[in-house]
Amino acid sequence: MMKEEKQLRGILVGCGFMGGMHAQIYHALPGVEIVAGVDGRIPESEEKLAKLGCPAPVFASLSEALAAVECDFVDVCLPTHQHKGNAVEAIEAGKALFCEKPLALSVEEADAIVEAAERNGTLAQVGHCLRFWPEYMRLIEYHKSGDGGQLLSLNLIRRAGRPDYGIDNWLNNEDQSGGAALDLHIHDTDFVLAMLGQPKSIESKVTRDFSGPVHVFSLMEYDGLIVSSEGGWNYPKKWGFQMAFQAVYENAVLDFDSSNGKGLMICEGETEPRALDVVQTDAGESQSGEGNVSDLGGYLNELKYFVKCLRSGEAPAIATLQDARDTLALTLKEIELGEGVKV
Ligand SMILES: NC(=O)c1ccc[n+]([C@@H]2O[C@H](COP(=O)([O-])OP(=O)(O)OC[C@H]3O[C@@H](n4cnc5c(N)ncnc54)[C@H](O)[C@@H]3O)[C@@H](O)[C@H]2O)c1
Repeated sequence: MMKEEKQLRGILVGCGFMGGMHAQIYHALPGVEIVAGVDGRIPESEEKLAKLGCPAPVFASLSEALAAVECDFVDVCLPTHQHKGNAVEAIEAGKALFCEKPLALSVEEADAIVEAAERNGTLAQVGHCLRFWPEYMRLIEYHKSGDGGQLLSLNLIRRAGRPDYGIDNWLNNEDQSGGAALDLHIHDTDFVLAMLGQPKSIESKVTRDFSGPVHVFSLMEYDGLIVSSEGGWNYPKKWGFQMAFQAVYENAVLDFDSSNGKGLMICEGETEPRALDVVQTDAGESQSGEGNVSDLGGYLNELKYFVKCLRSGEAPAIATLQDARDTLALTLKEIELGEGVKV
């Protein structure tokens, strides 16, 4: 007889863009239930959660939600300046934690979360989704295979139209989001650390505007290898979004550009470029009311992994609090090195 899986109950803190994404995914994962939401916009959030298949009462604060419902985990999708307070509250309440990236705005805040989690033996993961993004995972797999010979250079790009959807325009407020450097570019810094570890040296230039550090250009050096990484969101709104990488090996080039629709390409030796197989995400047994969550790639993968860890009780080994803390520290270093260019 099949063992019945325990129902996992979660509180979703922040029901905006990312909270909605997570709600859709939890709805699609068997045996997971959102038992409460937390958001300042209570009626809108209750309506949204119900529409996404997660009907639940919404409270104005995490304290109120924790007092009202029993849960196993807390998922923090609030604006970044509110991560530390809510993450530590969840940890001290003995709950498992999923926290969106960036973990916090300063290393001191990140350290406080890491320290609280260590003291409480908390199972925790951070939303550094590139570690779960199919094309980026495939690059790491290819890299580990050694098939292309030595990696000579890696170029990473992340560009977006100005984000204006956040409540009170929080994304364009450096004190709340850390600007494009901490909100957008940090994804690629995290990926570089996941794939290659800490660089030997780093140079950066950063342009600034009213929203803080808005466009980052970094060069990182490793033994025999240069990484260049660029990310900014001061593009016109209608410009759209682009994430891309190019990895140049001795015997091959791997190319991915979200804006050209080709998927992950490889060109080896004398042969024509061809698509490289990428493992597409399995949506699980059920589907969200809002479409097929298989399209959600890394977002689906990361929460499936978190839920798998919750079930097994094993601490996540990918996108840990310490990883997120180290990624934040390196991104802050890029900002610090890159200061001085005014626009
Ligand atoms: N992993 C990714 O690719 C990715 C993508 C987007 C956002 N994020 C991260 O997710 C987090 C949330 O971003 P978002 O885009 O969902 O923002 P958002 O503005 O869409 O949503 C934030 C929600 O929090 C609520 N809120 C704000 N202050 C509150 C308070 N004091 N009490 C209760 N509710 C409050 C707002 O009403 C809103 O619904 C950020 O840390 C962001 O960096 C990650």
